[in-house]
Amino acid sequence: MSKAAIVTGAARGIGRAIAQRMAQEGWRVLVADLDSAAAEETAAEIGATPCQVNVLDAGSVTAMVEAANAAFGCLDVLVSNAGIMDRMPFLEMTEDFWHRVIDTNLTGTFLCGQAAARRMVVQGAGGRIVNVASNSGLFGGRGRAAYGASKAGIINLTQTMAIELAEHGILVNAVAPGPTKTSDAQPDEPWPSVKARMPLGRWGKPREIAEVALFLASDACSFTTGHVWCADGGYTVAGIMEG
Ligand SMILES: NC(=O)c1ccc[n+]([C@@H]2O[C@H](COP(=O)([O-])OP(=O)(O)OC[C@H]3O[C@@H](n4cnc5c(N)ncnc54)[C@H](O)[C@@H]3O)[C@@H](O)[C@H]2O)c1
Repeated sequence: MSKAAIVTGAARGIGRAIAQRMAQEGWRVLVADLDSAAAEETAAEIGATPCQVNVLDAGSVTAMVEAANAAFGCLDVLVSNAGIMDRMPFLEMTEDFWHRVIDTNLTGTFLCGQAAARRMVVQGAGGRIVNVASNSGLFGGRGRAAYGASKAGIINLTQTMAIELAEHGILVNAVAPGPTKTSDAQPDEPWPSVKARMPLGRWGKPREIAEVALFLASDACSFTTGHVWCADGGYTVAGIMEG
């Protein structure tokens, strides 16, 4: 039987590429997104099942897991990808802004991970959970007090989930994308300060993040858990770039 997966934030961008890559493997995929019209469009295009979800609403997340179970009869994989990348200078950051980013990115990842893991534990056949973190969770970045903290939180949450879910055969890893071009509105090249520090020196493509997520979600990933895989053109390993 092919894998049954939920990908959150899958209507567009990196989540869409992950869902598409899994569908190409013959997996049954729930394209879960806040934007229901876009989720329906994407699901129709890639041969998946659409579902509206608000990842920061526990009731909505529970309904999403039930929808996957109703559609596929089981749940093998969750990819927690839904997130917002809004930025604001630290001195101007409002409490509302802080909570919106932390709630969507970090609380959303907790709620989706817990609901999916509970389903997988009941099934008793293990599973895979992939959380989408970011380079920004590994070091500071201008305007990223809330975003970076949310992604750093996801990395630590991934480690604890890996420890506590191991006894159930559920492996939990994170992929941390570097700057990835998801829209034509982005310039052709990343900011000069980013490019200068990145050995590969270009934007990532959503498909390149999807390949990593696919591996971490697959049975081929069988002895790696609690790991953060940076898909970032070498950005996080770079030090002095001249000489
Ligand atoms: N694009 C990058 O350069 C980059 C770099 C590092 C990490 N990331 C991470 O990758 C993930 C995807 O990024 P992207 O660039 O594809 O973003 P995107 O904005 O193109 O897509 C995000 C999707 O998440 C959905 N979403 C937002 N809030 C939601 C909610 N409350 N409930 C359900 N769905 C919701 C949106 O509707 C959208 O379809 C995010 O977690 C982001 O932080 C992106």
